[in-house]
Amino acid sequence: MKTQVAIIGGGPSGLLLSQILHLKGIQSVVLERQSRDYVLGRIRAGVLEQGLADMLRSAGVGDRMDQEGHLHGGFDIAHEGQRMRIDLSGLTGGKSVMVYGQTEVTLDLYNARDEMGGIVVDNAQNVIPHNLTSGTPYVTYEKEGVSHRLECDFIAGCDGFHGVSRQSIPEAVRQEYEKVYPFGWLGVLSETPPVSDELIYNHSERGFALCSMRSKSLSRYYVQCDINEDVENWSDDQFWEELKSRLPTETAAQLITGPSIEKSIAPLRSFVSEPLCYGRLFLAGDAGHIVPPTGAKGLNLAASDIHYLSTAFIQYYTEHSETKLREYSQTALKRIWKAMRFSWWMTTLLHRFPENSDFDRRIQKAELEYLFSSEVARKVLAENYVGLPY
Ligand code: APR
Ligand code: PHB
Repeated sequence: MKTQVAIIGGGPSGLLLSQILHLKGIQSVVLERQSRDYVLGRIRAGVLEQGLADMLRSAGVGDRMDQEGHLHGGFDIAHEGQRMRIDLSGLTGGKSVMVYGQTEVTLDLYNARDEMGGIVVDNAQNVIPHNLTSGTPYVTYEKEGVSHRLECDFIAGCDGFHGVSRQSIPEAVRQEYEKVYPFGWLGVLSETPPVSDELIYNHSERGFALCSMRSKSLSRYYVQCDINEDVENWSDDQFWEELKSRLPTETAAQLITGPSIEKSIAPLRSFVSEPLCYGRLFLAGDAGHIVPPTGAKGLNLAASDIHYLSTAFIQYYTEHSETKLREYSQTALKRIWKAMRFSWWMTTLLHRFPENSDFDRRIQKAELEYLFSSEVARKVLAENYVGLPY
């Protein structure tokens, strides 16, 4: 089999890239290790920057998002019993974020690929990129016991943090940067009305808590937990009691609890691998970088990577120029590191760090009080949260 761009990974990055290329008449094949049900069963964040929302619309997959998603013009930060609204729209000249589950984005992309006859190979096992520094790269994989070879011009590594693509770049070429945070997030999905119309990020002495949502009847809550915590140790009642203990009193009183329909723990890390390319292999999304979920930047960084990479492929196939392909890594990393910084800053601001000294804790308190007292500080937060320009 031959294609122009072989895409390893059928998550948001790979599917969005395939969809954009298809609309420009560029062939691609997506090779996904898991089943579609498995991919669509993953619960992920749901805050879309305007740049991603616009990309989905121009890729012809924004209709359901516009019907079922909710535009948010702000969110609250709670600290020591006070709630301060960050007026995103007022502070950014009218920008907002779209609250719409990543799972829904992925489903919309799968449906669009199917409708347009896109080739997405599910359950592709042992996917291996070959000949990366030659002009004739190819990918091998197995499906139902049959071995396949996919000839291509380029390989897009969209296979996430645990994928094969980044590992295919020689260690001597890769420079990796990592910070592992000393805690995790215990998340619960519940068919209950959200405690507030907008998100609430809570800093408390007991630890961070986040009140989010997927719709007016589906809520998503998180509490910071120990890095080695076992989700089996947390009954629903224990989760709700811990969440209430971290919220301002009046917010806790308004919380409607119910049975969890999903409960899981995620570790938090900041990670970047440089460069994002090696010969004819280009990394995008979680394959190249990971952010802690605090700033809701994971999916949004994947989107800007795909914007840059798809633009580069389109230039190659329409103008026969490799300029943007050569510049992709440097261009993408500029925006990646700014989002890395913001995600680290927001995580440091809002979480309880067990090893923090008394001085560290007072600085954290001063940072929060500065944010509560300065519109300029809130403007900086707002412009990063809605998303820096591509
Ligand atoms: N071969 C084929 N597919 C693979 C392989 C492999 N060796 N390894 C991983 N995959 C698949 C995974 O099953 C997954 O479906 O690649 C896909 C990668 O998807 P994501 O991990 O969702 O990464 P990405 O598409 O970059 O999206 C980034 O999604 O995971 C969240 O927090 C992340 O919000 C961020 C966004
Ligand atoms: C979520 O709804 O899952 C969510 C929202 C905002 C975040 C992180 C997660 O910063």
